[in-house]
Parts: sequence; C-alpha cells; structure tokens
Amino acid sequence: MPDADIRMRVNGVTRRATVPPRLTLADYLREHCGLTGTHLGCEHGVCGACTVLLDGEAVRACLVFAVQADDADVTTVEGIAAPDGELSPVQAAFRDNHGLQCGFCTPGFVLSVTALLRDNPDPTDEEIREGLSGNLCRCTGYQGILKAVRAAAGTAAGGAAAAEEPR
Ligand code: FES
Ligand code: FES
Repeated sequence: MPDADIRMRVNGVTRRATVPPRLTLADYLREHCGLTGTHLGCEHGVCGACTVLLDGEAVRACLVFAVQADDADVTTVEGIAAPDGELSPVQAAFRDNHGLQCGFCTPGFVLSVTALLRDNPDPTDEEIREGLSGNLCRCTGYQGILKAVRAAAGTAAGGAAAAEEPR
C-alpha cells in the first residue's frame, strides 16, 4: 500500500505527514513529532504505557495506526500540563502521593486517570481499580497510584480532603 497523507491535531498543534499505512500512532508521535513521553513497553496492547487520548478517549497508541487518527485530536502526556508548565491535578497527585518510581508507566497512567476522572469525577476504589486495569506498573505498587487518583479526584472536586489524607 502506498504511503498516506495524514493530518491531526496533537496537543492542539496541527501536524501533517506522509506515513506508511502500518506506522503505529505511538511511533508516529515518538518519531515524527518528537513526543517521546508516549512510552512503549510491550507494543502489543498489554501494559498501557503508550496510552494517549484520541478524540478524548484513552487508547493504546501501539494498537492504533497513525492513519486511523487522521483528522483526530490527540493528547499526549506533553499536552497535559498547563502551558506555563504547571502540572495538571493528576500529575501533581502522582508526584505528591508516591504514585511513581522509575516513571516508565506514568504517562500512560496519567492519561488513563485524566480520562477516568473526566468521565467519573468521584470514583469508588473499585471503579478506580477497574479503570486502571489496563495499565501496568512494575515498580511502584498500586497503593500509591490508588492514593494519587483519590487525591486527584479530591482536587478535581475542589475539596482538599483527599490531598490532606495522612500518608
Ligand atoms: S506499549 Fe502499548 S500497551 Fe504496552
Ligand atoms: S513507576 Fe516504574 S513501572 Fe511504574
């Protein structure tokens, strides 16, 4: 198949490229856009490290072809913080609640949690676990991540209670 012309908005910036039809969205973001915050772990849909938002939905960028994102809005971890660099509530909650160690899985978690809390601003622990069941972390353990999501939910709701939970 011939290369295809694509155009998408990545973190609000319109990008055009001519790409092979089998180029994954993850490789497109990393290699063509220089957005290496989208990490690649398993490259077959298991670990969630490559999670990005595609028209608002959390997807595994290693399982999506770049051509499938033609004319879409894509958000990567580089687009989550405020333009002045201030961390998003989810990013700040991960930082403040021991939600990461090596950080390899963190971009995927941040995107998944961002979508989760947008759709369900006050999730139960069970809903958080279910919502993050497609993201794997091999070093932090999940308690810190769960705590971070609870804290981010508290922040998103405008309450400080979760953030002030004893550590
Ligand atoms: S790299 Fe995409 S799910 Fe693991
Ligand atoms: S913080 Fe290292 S894999 Fe999750």
